[in-house]
Amino acid sequence: MRFAVAQSGGPTAAINASLAGVYEAAMDIQRKLRSEGSSEKVEIFGVLHGVQGLLDGKLINLEERLSDPQKLALLKKTPASALGSCRFRLPPPEQDDSMYHKLLDVLNAHRIDALFYIGGNDSMDTVAKLSTWLTAHGSKIRIIGVPKTIDNDLVGTDHTPGFGSAVKYLMTTMQEILRDCSVYQVQSVTVVEIMGRDAGWLTASTCLLRRNGETAPHYIYLPESDFTVAGFLADVREGLKTHRSVVCAVSEGVTPPDAALFRSGVNDEFGHAYLSGIGKYLEKQIAAEIGCKVRSVELNIMQRCSAHIASYTDLLEAERCGIHAGWLAYSGASGVMVNMQRNSDAYTYEITYGEFPASQTANQIRKFPAEWISPEGNQVTDDAIGYFLPLIQGEVYPDMHNGMPVHFLF
Ligand code: F6P
Repeated sequence: MRFAVAQSGGPTAAINASLAGVYEAAMDIQRKLRSEGSSEKVEIFGVLHGVQGLLDGKLINLEERLSDPQKLALLKKTPASALGSCRFRLPPPEQDDSMYHKLLDVLNAHRIDALFYIGGNDSMDTVAKLSTWLTAHGSKIRIIGVPKTIDNDLVGTDHTPGFGSAVKYLMTTMQEILRDCSVYQVQSVTVVEIMGRDAGWLTASTCLLRRNGETAPHYIYLPESDFTVAGFLADVREGLKTHRSVVCAVSEGVTPPDAALFRSGVNDEFGHAYLSGIGKYLEKQIAAEIGCKVRSVELNIMQRCSAHIASYTDLLEAERCGIHAGWLAYSGASGVMVNMQRNSDAYTYEITYGEFPASQTANQIRKFPAEWISPEGNQVTDDAIGYFLPLIQGEVYPDMHNGMPVHFLF
């Protein structure tokens, strides 16, 4: 058996744990086959830069690079996509299937039996299209999706690997921001811009700070609610009546009617706008209309690859998703994404790993639930705390050298 594994879309602190998980599954399958008396060898390759790299035949042997357990352990804790990534959409095969033929040629040339694609909702589009096309063309190559995204917006899974670590970084950073912002006696407003293109899960998670006795963020704005600058300024004015330092969490996906004023207008290869700038824009509005001390903080890519404060639960689940994917391929499945189902009551948190049709996740967005948003659309209710809390439990300590974290590099 020959496996190939690729990473796609935005990086996270947990995506390499899933890569390690697929590798571990391949080694476990090898051991199982041996114990059954089979001489069949399981080999595993990494694809550089996702499906784009696959088209160019960019495959590397993983066993040569990961057989040392220390290296494998370091890979799991290393942030960002160690194999490199892409944002690349396969054309609809009914319009042009030349790329599919090319991919089949590359996969056949390397005698690959299963391809694992670690990614988000756009990457599941690749899993769905490629698996359907291969099956229709008589190929037995299996394509399995492994979920990941800090946006937590994949349909068909309770949450996504990468999200928990981003939340943990966000809670830590927000607490530090709150300490800093409260030192002076002057009135001030701080606007924190948080990633999440189409859904506000990450921004909403700042409600967790209440569990540790914080009263901020005083306002939380998500793409799921209508937003106007006038309404925002009214909230801030109201907040300043009772708080010397008002802190607002704003999702990058919040789009006021005049968003064109601060967005670059540049799109990625999937056609998504590069979002950035709402925080700075709101800072300027406050300066002009309210005139108090004001700062904006754009957490930007720091929240995606914050391995120094990763969630142990997140990394473990990411690894288990990778392992489950390996066994799904071994059982003959294709065109599915690994999913996580939560079986919890008030005292326990347990995850069952399963599968979900990739076609039903592809290009879909799981929005933050409306029932967890306050009627004013500027806060998240306490009901959401129980959802977020288990995802940030447990610590991961980076390996250090010369006082700095050590990362695994291929
Ligand atoms: O992967 C999701 C995400 O991190 C979004 O939160 C963000 O809007 C987007 O990726 C940024 O994309 P890029 O990596 O192309 O800058």
